[in-house]
Amino acid sequence: MKTRITDLFGIEHPIIQGGMHFVGFAELAAAVSNAGGLGIITGLTQKTPELLANEIRRCRAMTDKPFGVNLTFLPVLKAPDYPGYVRAIVDGGVRIVETAGNNPQKWLPGLHEAGVKVIHKCTSVRHSLKAEAIGCDAVSVDGFECGGHPGEDDIPNFILLPRAAEVLKIPFVASGGMADGRSLVAALALGADGMNMGTRFIATKEAPVHEKVKQAIVAASELDTRLVMRSLRNTERVLNNTAVERLLEKERALGTNLKFEDIIEEVAGVYPKIMLDGDMDAGAWSCGMVAGLIHDVPTVQELIDRIMREADTLIRGRLAGMVAI
Ligand SMILES: Cc1cc2nc3c(=O)[nH]c(=O)nc-3n(C[C@H](O)[C@H](O)[C@H](O)COP(=O)(O)O)c2cc1C
Repeated sequence: MKTRITDLFGIEHPIIQGGMHFVGFAELAAAVSNAGGLGIITGLTQKTPELLANEIRRCRAMTDKPFGVNLTFLPVLKAPDYPGYVRAIVDGGVRIVETAGNNPQKWLPGLHEAGVKVIHKCTSVRHSLKAEAIGCDAVSVDGFECGGHPGEDDIPNFILLPRAAEVLKIPFVASGGMADGRSLVAALALGADGMNMGTRFIATKEAPVHEKVKQAIVAASELDTRLVMRSLRNTERVLNNTAVERLLEKERALGTNLKFEDIIEEVAGVYPKIMLDGDMDAGAWSCGMVAGLIHDVPTVQELIDRIMREADTLIRGRLAGMVAI
């Protein structure tokens, strides 16, 4: 399949693995890139730019295909060493960066000068247009269904994607709720040039996370995610568990008086405990509604091959059959 996204990134299939904290290590990124998609290492999971440089080297040793690095610009007072991370990316020869969170404008000239293509993740049409205006090469349009931070507008992809297609000139991928060949064909029909998946890639053999995380996703239905931190305007879609129920109880009790410190136990520093140790009630962790569509733990190659096969059959079979004379 050839789209503006496969052309832009020099990849075989229009499938991207979005950055995921304590999931997007070199093993997963390399597996996705080797299977013809675009794998992405999560920059901030590496505590220092030196560790990110090392992770990039590890990924390069596992694949000779293009891969990217995610840089998430957090709404925090004490920012991580972003200049250092950008240097590690550029010096490491990475040519694709997925940005997310705050506006990436400040970093674009340096990245572009080094030949890096930037895809910015946006949860609204207005942010997507802004990304285009400041010179991003592509956007990842993240609907309300998505695992992680869906923003505050609550617009699902059935509306968000065609709205983005109406106004954007640069290529974009559909993100949030994507799982299989049906998702890809639907995303293309709604105007996207490919798709980005998070949750689906966690339930794969190569995802370097605890087996219990994969099984929790397989066991979950589309009813099992919750939105937390709404009153802080830092909404996150997470899988329900005892920590999330406690967190939601605090949110109900404190209402608009809720402060980040009140829920620190449920949200701060919990990822390594969950993803690496399999301590499933250690805190709130991002997961998409798409868990309801995930029923197995294939290899990344099997997953991507299956998606492309399904998409082909859908387009040439079911859809073509409906318009045949
Ligand atoms: C466990 C987990 C961690 C994530 N961490 C990040 C992150 O650090 N930075 C980021 O930009 N997006 C992050 N995301 C969002 C994904 O990159 C992607 O946009 C999202 O998962 C798409 O929705 P889906 O899960 O329905 O496929 C995370 C998602 C998950 C499920």
